[in-house]
Amino acid sequence: MKRVTIRVPATTANLGPGFDAFGCALSLYTDVTFEETDCGLEITGCDEAYTGPDNMAYTSYCAVLASLNEEVRGIKIHIDAHIPVCRGLGSSAALLVAGAMGANVLRGNKLSIQGLLNITNAMEGHPDNLAPAFYGGLTASMVDNGLPVTVNFPLHPDWEFLALVPNFDLPTPLARSVLPEQVSRADAIYNIAHGAMVLKALELGDEKLLRNAMQDRLHQNYRKKLITDYEKIEALVRTTGAAFCLSGGGPTLLCITQDEHLEEKLAKKLDSITTASWQMLPLHVEFQGARVIRVDN
Ligand code: HSE
Repeated sequence: MKRVTIRVPATTANLGPGFDAFGCALSLYTDVTFEETDCGLEITGCDEAYTGPDNMAYTSYCAVLASLNEEVRGIKIHIDAHIPVCRGLGSSAALLVAGAMGANVLRGNKLSIQGLLNITNAMEGHPDNLAPAFYGGLTASMVDNGLPVTVNFPLHPDWEFLALVPNFDLPTPLARSVLPEQVSRADAIYNIAHGAMVLKALELGDEKLLRNAMQDRLHQNYRKKLITDYEKIEALVRTTGAAFCLSGGGPTLLCITQDEHLEEKLAKKLDSITTASWQMLPLHVEFQGARVIRVDN
């Protein structure tokens, strides 16, 4: 039976003010292998809790077959995940993307990447992780008449990303449940202006502009309370001159810098200001989106 392995990059969404719109692919990956069988569902490589039919790689696999009007046969799915789960680095989006692409490849590549993004966006509800996971690089997306439209933005080559990943998780539904349904006009204007500046600062490599622009009034202030020592860590990062934001819905905190010594500088002080344990992950931008890394016929 045909077997295919899909590699999907981690993604950081929002980048401060670009709530549900901006995203960037990063150099950390989840590989998912799909092999069609005669019947049944077998999922390996992940926690027992994720081996049922609600596994997101499987649900998106089924959604793509449904959109092609094709029958779901048996399937073996093996997950080799290096993206930390429920940490704001796009682990769920990676599974949705892998499932969609796996189904498409196994059934003859009938859908375009845009078609796969349309299907997975309807499942996830916002395209900000999915779009960079499919296309790579820095993306901004809008949803028009229910369908996502994505563009890639240029990025200065000197940026380095340092993710601070804590030892606790934060499911996205909880991180979204604390957000207000309505925002003031002043806050909406603040985010539109800051969002435009973030994209330009990332293009130009302007660290001062990025530090000032990467502020937000739509989500981060409400989410802080869910994240141990958020404000202390933000204050520490700001003393280094790096730009700072919440990665997606959190709890990972993201520093963007051109200072190659940032990790050392933070390591000296981080443990003394926080009661949680934080892993520092130095990452760079991944310009290639999800791809097939192996096919066995
Ligand atoms: N834009 C989303 C959020 C990303 O901030 O809730 C997490 O899925």
